[in-house]
Amino acid sequence: MTKEVLDSLLSDLQEFFKDDYSGHDFNHTMRVYKLANNIAIQEHANLEIVSLAALLHDVDDVKLTQSINYQNARLLMNRYGIDKATQEEVIAIIQDVSFKGNQSKSPSTLEGKIVQDADRLDAIGAIGIARAFTFGGNHNRPLYNDEKPERNMDETSYRQHQSSTINHFYEKLLLLKDMMNTECARVLADQRHQFMVNYLEEFFDEVEGKK
Ligand code: ADP
Ligand code: NI
Repeated sequence: MTKEVLDSLLSDLQEFFKDDYSGHDFNHTMRVYKLANNIAIQEHANLEIVSLAALLHDVDDVKLTQSINYQNARLLMNRYGIDKATQEEVIAIIQDVSFKGNQSKSPSTLEGKIVQDADRLDAIGAIGIARAFTFGGNHNRPLYNDEKPERNMDETSYRQHQSSTINHFYEKLLLLKDMMNTECARVLADQRHQFMVNYLEEFFDEVEGKK
């Protein structure tokens, strides 16, 4: 991708995500893009594929769009003359990236594994905490309650489940560090994970009035 294509694609994406406050905004896409590129350099992966898949990984998300057959990603790639073979490789990655409870799939290519890792890293750590509470607020969820977290949900239950935001940590966020595909991402995930563990400890101390 030339600098001109990249800049133009970025402004298309900025426009595309401008009304999203669900945690899948343009800044999420940019963070995934930057993280995925940093990992891709260390893992010697194909940067063009990683960049395209990272930038386009949420444009056909079923939760955000009514898209059929990855039409938004295809439209954007056609606009910039990306060849069909590259397009198919990118689409195959986008299909597998998303978290689907215990039905989550690891993409088969190194490039896909990297994009999935980057997307998951953005769900944990300081940013992950902020995104979770934003999501909770958007969906009118309580910060915490007395319900026990549901472990081991399949895709449908995960999508339908209405948990408190704190329970979401136990249902997804704390599971992600053991689901990383690449060594680079595992190192980053360990740090982000530890930050969340410390945060939860502090959170519950405050809930109990201990601090
Ligand atoms: P993905 O982008 O992998 O498909 P989701 O759409 O499930 O993931 O989640 C988008 C963001 O919203 C993530 O940061 C995720 O942790 C957060 N999120 C999803 N479900 C919940 C929930 N029940 N409570 C709080 N945050 C949530
Ligand atoms: Ni994402």
